[in-house]
Amino acid sequence: MTARRAPGAAEAPLDTAFARAHFPALAGPWALFENAGGTLAAEPVLDRIRSYMSAYQVQPGADFPASARAAEMMAESHHAMAALMNAAPEEVLIGPSTTMNVFLLAQALRPGLREGDEIVVTNLDHEANVGAWRRLAADGIVVREWRFDAESHALEPDGLAALLSERTRLVCFGHCSNITGGFTDVAALVRMIHDAGALACVDGVAYAAHRLIDVKAWDVDFYLCSTYKLYGPHLALLYGKRAHLERAAPLNHYFLDDALPLKLNPGGPNHELTAGLAGITAYLDALHAHHEGESNLPLRARLAAVFERIAAHEEALGAPLLDFLASRHGVRLIGNPSADRSLRAPTVSFAVDGRDADEIVRALLPAKLAIRDGDFYAARCIEALGLAPRGGVVRASMVHYNTGDEVARLIRALDEAIPS
Ligand SMILES: Cc1ncc(COP(=O)(O)O)c(C=O)c1O
Repeated sequence: MTARRAPGAAEAPLDTAFARAHFPALAGPWALFENAGGTLAAEPVLDRIRSYMSAYQVQPGADFPASARAAEMMAESHHAMAALMNAAPEEVLIGPSTTMNVFLLAQALRPGLREGDEIVVTNLDHEANVGAWRRLAADGIVVREWRFDAESHALEPDGLAALLSERTRLVCFGHCSNITGGFTDVAALVRMIHDAGALACVDGVAYAAHRLIDVKAWDVDFYLCSTYKLYGPHLALLYGKRAHLERAAPLNHYFLDDALPLKLNPGGPNHELTAGLAGITAYLDALHAHHEGESNLPLRARLAAVFERIAAHEEALGAPLLDFLASRHGVRLIGNPSADRSLRAPTVSFAVDGRDADEIVRALLPAKLAIRDGDFYAARCIEALGLAPRGGVVRASMVHYNTGDEVARLIRALDEAIPS
């Protein structure tokens, strides 16, 4: 690891060598461009899981020391994840995946819906925040589709405005597309949805590794993210406003009907992986301390500073790749060509005229570039783009531990792989 720099030193916005030293798998020759599929887990996460499993893996919550420590480690993680989302712990459910969490939420909200009530879903997003809601059509719920704009590849507010009605109960959309990398303006959309008398359920899975979540500032009703795409283990978080969770139908044992968030979480969370979750904030805090020095700021302020640095670094990673793709004849970029950090994450998808997506990916493998093609479970988006017959898109997805050198390697390899 490199030495800590003086507080306030800003010439190198993010010390990637320091960050990368926390991810043992980055030591090899491969450059990882599949981070939207799953990030690596940071070392403090691994340490906590190892510690839990080797010393405390008993049923948590009894009075003997190992059991008490097991419960404490899980509670530390639960509190850390609530802080990361700016929520109260009772409002944050830890489940196996976002797909499962949305499924649970749909089951819990279903009894509160009437035949003819409307739910809006999009054709841009990963199926996780779409399919479980669409299935409610079998109960007489009317499902409306908010389609992304064919030019901007974005979910435009006008498109939603045209769909909202007095029967709209819920609008489900993504904060960041796992295909285009583009952000939606969650706070503005939530205001619009609330004005229409509906609730908002936002998929933040492709957002969480890149920017700090703030469910309170956005006033969102439900918010989802997956911790295996946030430097943690394969788990997922579901935030719900307390009043909504209280009203939701219980799904767990009858004597847990009033227990938040357990009432929606049959079986409870995986213990050892939950114990690891506090390692995510520990890692982000170590990044903060490394760059800014020890600080008396509250955790949320420290996290905000870290994510600002991450955003600046990500913009610098995305810009050359987006410029290269824009310069190449026959390349169709999916999404916004700007690397502007306020508009997107460095998740970059494209198609090449006359080539199947997997041909491009196979051509990049010898250069040890871990990159992927496909629909990434946003199958409706790939259909709408007309790219299904070509196997979807090629996607290069970066996070803060990627380096400018890796992007340069990718551009060199693409330069050879894509006919000019
Ligand atoms: C934007 C987005 N939403 C939801 C999911 C599904 O998450 P999980 O695998 O936790 O169900 C993914 C996974 O790729 C995703 O990229």
